[in-house]
Amino acid sequence: MDHFHFQAGALHCENVPVAKIAETVGTPAYIYSKATFLHHYRAVHDAFAALDPLICYSIKSCGNLSICNLLKSAGAGFDIVSGGELARAQAIGADMSQIVFAGVGKSDEEIEQAIDAGVGWFNVESEAEMENLITISRRKRVRTRAALRVNPDVDPRTHRYTSTGKKESKFGVDLERGRRFFDAYGRDAAVHLCGIHLHIGSPVNDIAPYVGAITKGIDLIDALRADGFDIDTIDIGGGFGAHYRDTEAPPAVRYAEAIVPLLKDKRLKVIMEPGRSIAANAGILLTRTLYLKQSGDRDFLIVDAGMNDLLRPALYEAYHFAWPVAPRAGFVPKDRASAAQLPGLKLMDIVGPVCESGDFLAKDRMLPPMQRGDLVAVYSAGAYGMSMASHYNSRPNPPEVLVDGDDFRVIRRRETYDDLMAAERL
Ligand SMILES: Cc1ncc(COP(=O)(O)O)c(C=O)c1O
Repeated sequence: MDHFHFQAGALHCENVPVAKIAETVGTPAYIYSKATFLHHYRAVHDAFAALDPLICYSIKSCGNLSICNLLKSAGAGFDIVSGGELARAQAIGADMSQIVFAGVGKSDEEIEQAIDAGVGWFNVESEAEMENLITISRRKRVRTRAALRVNPDVDPRTHRYTSTGKKESKFGVDLERGRRFFDAYGRDAAVHLCGIHLHIGSPVNDIAPYVGAITKGIDLIDALRADGFDIDTIDIGGGFGAHYRDTEAPPAVRYAEAIVPLLKDKRLKVIMEPGRSIAANAGILLTRTLYLKQSGDRDFLIVDAGMNDLLRPALYEAYHFAWPVAPRAGFVPKDRASAAQLPGLKLMDIVGPVCESGDFLAKDRMLPPMQRGDLVAVYSAGAYGMSMASHYNSRPNPPEVLVDGDDFRVIRRRETYDDLMAAERL
């Protein structure tokens, strides 16, 4: 569900024609819908209300300060994985006690920064990290709170690069090691090890892997409680799906129907870390056609956004629906699924200007007749879009625009060449 729709033949975000935004800020540009962000946040909140969970929005998915602030106002805590993400949470005045700090390679500086800030939980991923956290907490004479990230060894059936809960993953520790981990560190005075953390991968459109992982997590918690450990928290991670091709992601209520009964009445504080399911469908990447070109038997639409702006297709061969913003008559799609069936389409690749063959935004797509100057919307780009953007080929990052009803405002300006070189010295 999103607030990007065609009205009088032109794509709108909420009530604003996206072409009008292009006139103001140029292209490429990320455009976000405030209503869509709030819709998806509330969908999770309402679906899981019976558990009264702490919903820690995953900053890595879309970390713009205005977006974080919007979700803070809606009641979210935050999932962070770096000192930089902590700085973002601090910049918006987030409640530090509602923050979980995950990540397999937290540096000493980041741990100190997070302890000083007073973050709620460290999600600890190894024995070595736990020992380091204990050392630093003792030195600082504080009692920090931690959850152990365990690998439930379930297959989330997603891309191998975003599958994180298998036994061989670099994240967390094996379930079997969980009890030994608590035997070794579960009674430490400086770090209160009081929970377990699971994050199986992303996007996970199947509900069964969550059920499998959480069931294994609860079994571990029961065993730990029987051993006398005081476990009060379970963090079930993120990874809930979003719509990329059509409407393939289960709504939050479907996940909740399966997950809530598993966790209800377990005397556990439940933490969730959704990112993509809140942000992905709330954003598009708007780009302009530079050239049309034929090479061999392939047709290319060369646009002004590239893999440096939206890395997901190059990195994971991720699919993003893409369509012109003002299609010729007869080419306004009813929905994503049926768009490719319209008569008169042509097979094309949408590619960027970056000097890599992997620089594509969409491959093998049936698209309406296009010409130089046409705007194209790359959908479902709100999560892991701008947050993965780079300066490769010395390309300044695009602006981010937030639409709210009839209005829009720039929440990150377009970078300049001076920005590109600001940290460098001759
Ligand atoms: C530990 C952890 N939690 C939460 C998330 C957010 O996942 P998603 O954006 O798919 O909800 C991630 C994503 O990588 C993660 O690694």
